[in-house]
Amino acid sequence: MGKKILVLTGSARKKGNSNRMAHAFAEAAAARGHDVNVIDTATLKLNFCHACETCYKTGKPCSFDDDFNTIADDILAADALVFSSPVYWYSVPSQLKAVVDKMFSFVVGGKTDQFFGKECALICCCEEEDPAILDGVRIPFERTAALNKWTQAAALADKF
Ligand SMILES: Cc1cc2nc3c(=O)[nH]c(=O)nc-3n(C[C@H](O)[C@H](O)[C@H](O)COP(=O)(O)O)c2cc1C
Repeated sequence: MGKKILVLTGSARKKGNSNRMAHAFAEAAAARGHDVNVIDTATLKLNFCHACETCYKTGKPCSFDDDFNTIADDILAADALVFSSPVYWYSVPSQLKAVVDKMFSFVVGGKTDQFFGKECALICCCEEEDPAILDGVRIPFERTAALNKWTQAAALADKF
């Protein structure tokens, strides 16, 4: 049976490398019968996590209302989360990081039954040749996956 796959992209360059890889993945997954949704985090109005830990206490995932609240249910409903990101200064771009940080609301807000146990994958690109350049995206992704009991479907790295 097809899975519900949510792809979160992290580059503002619509025809950039990570978006092209994300859409190639999405098309291939949809052709295999999966229900795929791509959310471009660069188009969202996002604030940072205030660590106020009032998540869901005011009736919404984040008390500091922004576009995370419009995608939180999509994240929870997904069987698999795919992150497609460029490397920015050896790390994750701020727009995608803001979404990941705000996923803390699912833990604080008691949504772990839906948030834990998903499948996940990382698609990542950078400019420099050394694959270790991806470490600043790959290692936090792998640790986040382990903490959230996500099963890694694949870790893809590519350079266009
Ligand atoms: C703000 C910024 C920081 C970047 N930092 C790095 C970096 O630390 N290492 C690297 O190899 N490439 C770096 N790059 C290059 C991008 O990772 C690379 O061009 C990537 O393919 C862009 O992905 P996109 O086409 O999906 O936007 C940086 C690019 C930008 C805009």
